[in-house]
Amino acid sequence: MERLQKVIAHAGIASRRKAEEMILDGKVKVNGTVIRELGVKVTEQDRIEVNGVPIEREEPVYFLLYKPKGVISSVKDDKGRKVVTDFFENIEKRVYPIGRLDYDTSGLLLMTNDGEFANLLMHPRYEIEKVYVAKVKGIPSKTELRQLEKGINLEDGMTAPAKVKVMSIDKKKQTAIIEIIIHEGRNRQVRRMFEKIGHPVLKLKRERYAFLDLHGLRPGDARELSPHEVKQLRHLAKNGRS
Ligand code: URA
Repeated sequence: MERLQKVIAHAGIASRRKAEEMILDGKVKVNGTVIRELGVKVTEQDRIEVNGVPIEREEPVYFLLYKPKGVISSVKDDKGRKVVTDFFENIEKRVYPIGRLDYDTSGLLLMTNDGEFANLLMHPRYEIEKVYVAKVKGIPSKTELRQLEKGINLEDGMTAPAKVKVMSIDKKKQTAIIEIIIHEGRNRQVRRMFEKIGHPVLKLKRERYAFLDLHGLRPGDARELSPHEVKQLRHLAKNGRS
């Protein structure tokens, strides 16, 4: 038996607090009857509707995928390109990505069917540490890298401070490999940050997400997260920085 608001939150429809409001507002039905009081518990067999739409309930699952480049971080694509869920065809549950990596970006992407967990990890207030390795055009100067560290003005506002480390430079090819650690998750953020300092990204990989890395995996491989890892991620998202 689980509390009604918890089940609604798990389905990714709303936060628990919002779900409570929805219940009080008479928007939730259990087995066809409107429920207006909090504290009602439901079983797997109960049919729950929110605003007249039945909610899907599945056992929550959590995976880590090494997304190859050339794959869309979505559950389907109109143009028939490969999507991240193609790597989970043998799993009965309908998983989806937590956040996204660009089509051309490879690396660590979490997948789940637990909407509450996904919302928690993606909430900007709790943004988790992400480590990227970028191959960039040209060799950025110390001043340019300092700009990335301090925060840089993009069209959607200043970026939060980042950590930046030069891994290697290739003077002949005029490229550099830079590690950059950010907490935010704006659209194409790393690419836009490097673009802004005049060093476009040629290749991008997410190597770490909080304490999780790609150890032992090849592009296209996925592994299930352990219950302890899931618990740690929840804890991090609620209590701050990784
Ligand atoms: N930043 C980017 O520019 N692209 C990604 O895929 C992730 C972060």
